[in-house]
Amino acid sequence: MERWRGRVALVTGASVGIGVAVAVELVQFGMKVVGCARDVGKIQKLAAECQSASHPGVLVPFKCDLSKEEEILSMFAAIKEQHKGVDVCINNAGLGHAELLLSGKTSGWKNMMDVNVLALSICTREAYQSMKERNVDDGHIVNINGMCGHRVITNLDLHFYTATKYAVTALTEGLRQALRAENSQIRATCISPGLVETEFLSPFYKNSPNKAAGAYSAYKPLEVTDVANAVTYVLSAPPHVQIGDVQMQGTEQV
Ligand SMILES: NC(=O)c1ccc[n+]([C@@H]2O[C@H](COP(=O)([O-])OP(=O)(O)OC[C@H]3O[C@@H](n4cnc5c(N)ncnc54)[C@H](OP(=O)(O)O)[C@@H]3O)[C@@H](O)[C@H]2O)c1
Repeated sequence: MERWRGRVALVTGASVGIGVAVAVELVQFGMKVVGCARDVGKIQKLAAECQSASHPGVLVPFKCDLSKEEEILSMFAAIKEQHKGVDVCINNAGLGHAELLLSGKTSGWKNMMDVNVLALSICTREAYQSMKERNVDDGHIVNINGMCGHRVITNLDLHFYTATKYAVTALTEGLRQALRAENSQIRATCISPGLVETEFLSPFYKNSPNKAAGAYSAYKPLEVTDVANAVTYVLSAPPHVQIGDVQMQGTEQV
């Protein structure tokens, strides 16, 4: 990870869950991490903790609602002005609503598409353009996908969310091919965890909290640091190694 010291990483969804673990790990490796989310107060608190822990890098909080393209573009403009640009983009922000295919609300589907698919694509495009204009040819774009991006499980609540994660699988391989077509050394990877213990299921099951509690008690899920370690693994691979996907789940997950 030595070559990333002092470089700039954007981590989306850095207010809670996997994004916090990834952001802190990259700060520990000496990176300048721009962490964004809507609840910027949580990232500010985390940034203060990183500073008091004397980690070699720095966490820069940024308030951004990723469902609004203008806010994403303003964020990239601010990163360009204050930190020159992005060298690593971790597209982590994502959410699920239990909106069924036969009766779910369109607003819930739109929100999942906006954050899980469109924001990820806009951030990817802007990160690539940022690298290209500075001749950064060793950058890395990492999409936090999920095992839901690889198989459709028999849980009706998950099916629209699953469709957005299948899109992430296609977008990551599409990005790899697009980068090859540009003869670029920038790498594209997705990390596909199974169940991870975070706040992810709470809004997903806002009308049935028992379902969320039940999911976490059935077996030992992954911890957020397991996913952060996978991010470090792909970033630290030698430049000629392109890891396309890391599929991982709790050992006891069926
Ligand atoms: N937990 C799991 O079991 C699991 C499994 C596989 C894959 N994943 C994936 O891992 C990623 C992170 O999930 P997590 O478990 O860490 O979930 P989480 O704890 O619910 O965190 C989600 C993050 O996304 C951010 N976010 C949501 N909507 C946003 C918006 N409109 N604008 C900006 N930020 C937004 C949230 O920030 P604010 O609310 O502050 O905006 C938060 O920081 C997601 O892509 C998820 O699909 C999770």
